[in-house]
Amino acid sequence: MSREKIVVIDFGGQYNQLVARRVRECNVYCEIYSYKTDLKKIREMEPKGIILTGGPNSVYEEGAPSCGKELFELGVPVLGLCYGAQLMSHVLGGHVCKAPVREYGRIEVTVDRSSKLFGNVSEKTICWMSHNDYIEKPAPGFRVIAHTADCPVAAAEWVERGLYAIQFHPEVLHTQEGSRMLHNFVYEICGCVGDWRMDSFVETSIRAIREKVGSGKVLCALSGGVDSSVAAVLLSKAVGDQLTCVFVDHGLLRKNEGDEVEEVFGPNGPYELHFIRVNAQERFYRKLAGVEEPERKRKIIGEEFIRVFEEEAKKIGRVDFLVQGTIYPDVVESGLGGESAVIKSHHNVGGLPDYVDFKEIIEPLRDLFKDEVRKVGLELGIPEKLVYRQPFPGPGLGIRIVGEVTAEKVKMVQNADAIYREEIAAAGLSHMPDQYFAALTNMRSVGVMGDERTYDYAVALRAVNTVDFMTAEASQIPWEVLQRVTSRIVNEVAHVNRVLYDITSKPPGTVEFE
Ligand code: XMP
Repeated sequence: MSREKIVVIDFGGQYNQLVARRVRECNVYCEIYSYKTDLKKIREMEPKGIILTGGPNSVYEEGAPSCGKELFELGVPVLGLCYGAQLMSHVLGGHVCKAPVREYGRIEVTVDRSSKLFGNVSEKTICWMSHNDYIEKPAPGFRVIAHTADCPVAAAEWVERGLYAIQFHPEVLHTQEGSRMLHNFVYEICGCVGDWRMDSFVETSIRAIREKVGSGKVLCALSGGVDSSVAAVLLSKAVGDQLTCVFVDHGLLRKNEGDEVEEVFGPNGPYELHFIRVNAQERFYRKLAGVEEPERKRKIIGEEFIRVFEEEAKKIGRVDFLVQGTIYPDVVESGLGGESAVIKSHHNVGGLPDYVDFKEIIEPLRDLFKDEVRKVGLELGIPEKLVYRQPFPGPGLGIRIVGEVTAEKVKMVQNADAIYREEIAAAGLSHMPDQYFAALTNMRSVGVMGDERTYDYAVALRAVNTVDFMTAEASQIPWEVLQRVTSRIVNEVAHVNRVLYDITSKPPGTVEFE
């Protein structure tokens, strides 16, 4: 597939993925590579432009991540951001040193609007700064095109060579006109036309999948989550009845979720899919009986899932390809793309069983960010309700029931959670939490109902706001909504007589309870 591409070179900055996402929002495809990537490889990609990210180091320190002068001699426009800007100046003969005043936060920047980078940007514009070092003297050939009260070189350019250095972070939303600046860079400076669109992604992917699969058989583990659903529908459009989707109901799904997934993907749904639903509830409950330790529970659920999946795969017969719903952040976070450390290795029960007999893995969403996966989902006609689902962990309610899992406890938490979701939906909150659910604690306490003493379980409600799920804040759900949910849960869910609201952030808490 030949499409125009911007290459983001990662120097370990915390916003590396954000840079790529912002560029893609301009309809220009963009990939992240480590600063250690061979220049030859970068040249072979024929990028339309290169962006150097920020990073935590000082360019003048020994061993700081660097690049050769040759990177700026490819005849390709280069935009350096923060550390990237300092590095460009340093390598090309400017002077970078510790700034007399550290700038952090929203800062007013005065820009020279005659620069192509700042076309249609206000002369005084608020930008996000985060730097200890600064460019004291730009490299020879560069012209200063922006400054702040404390930073004489907030941006510089060398138009003839297509080199642009900016001290602030246009990728961060606090930079009010940052998207405009990136748009200017990719269109006005790099000359992109903007061929990264989700409708054309669907078309080209379908063609590529057909070519790869030929007449082979394809298997997809469908969980009903966004990624696997989008992958399954894309595959089905590409190879039709060569695809079989296996949906394992492990009895740890939310209320009615198994039926909802079947409604969409089963024989009565809009897709013509070979859909196999395996009702394996009893089997999972048996394995989990008497087990209290969270990690053991996770392992049992993960392993049993693979056993069930494997049995189904055997029934289908020789499968050539297995579909995985890997998305781009997984690729970057697992260290295959950029420079950031491996962040998480959550067990995903939809994961890859390595002893199923298959030739190859197909990862049709490997290049996409989550919001792009959602756009593809809509493009494929998948219902919005499914496309905008909140995340749900592979081990499901198994890790939202503290202690031993039983069928009775699953019912309790399913019912409490359904009430919570109903009331949140009805409340029409102006800020929806990014994830919210009910969990069943292992605590029983005394209550009174009518004139009777009760000795029943406590349900905990959780709702968090987060960007990446690595850190999270408890959401401030309005008190009236919590009251309504509580009153309904204690009245409608048998054996629950108390409701608690968890206000712990992550860290030190986690989102899930186990
Ligand atoms: P924690 O509890 O680690 O959760 O703060 C962060 C996010 O990850 C989800 N999560 C999982 N997702 N398999 C998954 O697919 C898992 O084992 C798993 N554990 C947690 C969790 O729902 C939250 O969105």
